[in-house]
Amino acid sequence: MVAALLHDLGDTLSPYNHSQLAAAILKPYVSERTWWIIHHHGVFQAYYYAHHLGGERNAREQFKDSPFYRACVDFCHKYDQAAFDPDYPSKPLAFFEPMVRRIFARQPGHLELTSAS
Ligand SMILES: [Fe+2]
Repeated sequence: MVAALLHDLGDTLSPYNHSQLAAAILKPYVSERTWWIIHHHGVFQAYYYAHHLGGERNAREQFKDSPFYRACVDFCHKYDQAAFDPDYPSKPLAFFEPMVRRIFARQPGHLELTSAS
């Protein structure tokens, strides 16, 4: 949830690699799986628009052998892409604040050796 909330936080500062910027900030506090999803979501999200701009919408296929490929496809489909719908139900930012504080209160690197969750 927190990764979904923060996954685009680098978009203004670093438009050409915002995925990597957000992933770098989150990395010490999240699992390898969550880091991987955020790190690569820009390429996966391109599936929904790249072909309208002359790009390759299936660029995500380069990662098809990753154990996190399906999770990233699902992340973009369920959360990133769906969030562009102005009628998508959402909560006020204050609703998420305790979750954000809980994640960033973790000991940095505590999940470094795991790939679960
Ligand atoms: Fe993004």
